[in-house]
Amino acid sequence: MKIWSFAKRGFMGFWYPYVRLLNTLWPSITIEGKRLAISPDVYKPLENEYACADYCRPGDRVLDLGSGSGVCTVFTAPKAREVLAVDISPAAVRNTRENCDRLGLTNVVCRESDMFSTVDGQFDLIVANPPYINVEFEKEEEQFATSVRFMPTMFAQAGDHLTPDGRLLVQFPIWFRGRVEKLGAEHGFELLEVKRTPNKSLGLFLLSLAYTQVGFRSAFYLFRAKAAAKAAPSPRKRPAGASRARASSAA
Ligand SMILES: C[S@@+](CC[C@H](N)C(=O)[O-])C[C@H]1O[C@@H](n2cnc3c(N)ncnc32)[C@H](O)[C@@H]1O
Repeated sequence: MKIWSFAKRGFMGFWYPYVRLLNTLWPSITIEGKRLAISPDVYKPLENEYACADYCRPGDRVLDLGSGSGVCTVFTAPKAREVLAVDISPAAVRNTRENCDRLGLTNVVCRESDMFSTVDGQFDLIVANPPYINVEFEKEEEQFATSVRFMPTMFAQAGDHLTPDGRLLVQFPIWFRGRVEKLGAEHGFELLEVKRTPNKSLGLFLLSLAYTQVGFRSAFYLFRAKAAAKAAPSPRKRPAGASRARASSAA
């Protein structure tokens, strides 16, 4: 196990500067007709992340947790009432804001946040494309693809920021389905649907290859809080005992 961890850390030590170089040489990507600027220190969306917008209902209040370049924000904002885009990385927050301004989106607020630390209020949809690689590095705000605490913290705290019929949409590799579902269940979430992200075009596949980002088989995992499902609540009321249930399952 230690060897595997060591290998991941070694590879990522090479990968980060390599991606920064590629992003510097190639500082944008066009997705479904929208051109997004991508800063050197920001994750380039290569997994058809835009399709998260299919889960956004008209008028939803959306939280984009770990917004990166803002790809999920710019695709959900046209449907949403409002989007709050947060990221631990100042470079990502600036990048999201730049892309929203460039696309003329006026219903988006962008701010720095370590997970939910500056998030207030509740949301109809929380979207997150967590770092896929489970390795710890110092300076987390510079490590857009590695984290050990993103997933556990997200599941532990998301329930407090969802409306009673709110949903949590997590993008993660399909082969971790068992682990993702278990972690969600431990924190009181019911998995409603798992769906592969749309197939990559040849161009996107080749670009992913250049970024050594192939074979992830990314998927959308749609969750809702179990307590909310059972209580069948009236539209804006939090079901009694929901927070207590979450607090005990998170302990
Ligand atoms: C894989 S990237 C996804 C970015 C974007 N949502 C997308 O789909 O392209 C993960 C993002 O999570 C952010 N992140 C990592 N740890 C975080 C934390 N503790 N709090 C908030 N954001 C975090 C990273 O900076 C990065 O932008």
